[in-house]
Amino acid sequence: MILPIIAYGDPVLKKVGLPIDKDYKGLGQLIENMFETMYAASGVGLAAPQVGISIRLFVVDTKPFAEDEPELENFKKVFINPQIIEEVGDEWKFNEGCLSIPGIREDVMRKKIIHLRYQDEEFKTHETVFEGLAARVIQHEYDHIDGKLFVEKLSPFKKQLIKGKLRDITIGKVDVDYKMRFPIKK
Ligand code: NI
Repeated sequence: MILPIIAYGDPVLKKVGLPIDKDYKGLGQLIENMFETMYAASGVGLAAPQVGISIRLFVVDTKPFAEDEPELENFKKVFINPQIIEEVGDEWKFNEGCLSIPGIREDVMRKKIIHLRYQDEEFKTHETVFEGLAARVIQHEYDHIDGKLFVEKLSPFKKQLIKGKLRDITIGKVDVDYKMRFPIKK
């Protein structure tokens, strides 16, 4: 089932998500719905708060990036209760977007390599090093479960420039071709 994606301005996007365990009700269905929702919106990652659920879960599938990085062809994963153990390497710039913030893309600086501990959908624990675009997508989604959005990382000048656009998104004054829920109805 495709779920509405929560738009910028909704308080759920600012909440720190709670950890979950394997007894979390309806988890399998939720994961399936999140993938379906992400694909319908042509996204490469989606975090549970973006469908209104404040828990530490996100899904990624980087297939759209496979043209640039062939190893991302089959990078489809579920991350539960992830913890970034460390971030290393030089910071690099990448033009990020977010399904909750349609129509805005900005360059964001992040470190190149992350060391992540997480559980998969079977609650098996993994410790893995990710780098490049894979790390980038994970860092962006990880921020979501900590209640952070990429626009908060921009310079005060950039923030000022997009202020009006962000306000428009909050009230649903935005062109978007997937299902969304806006915090303030027009
Ligand atoms: Ni996002």
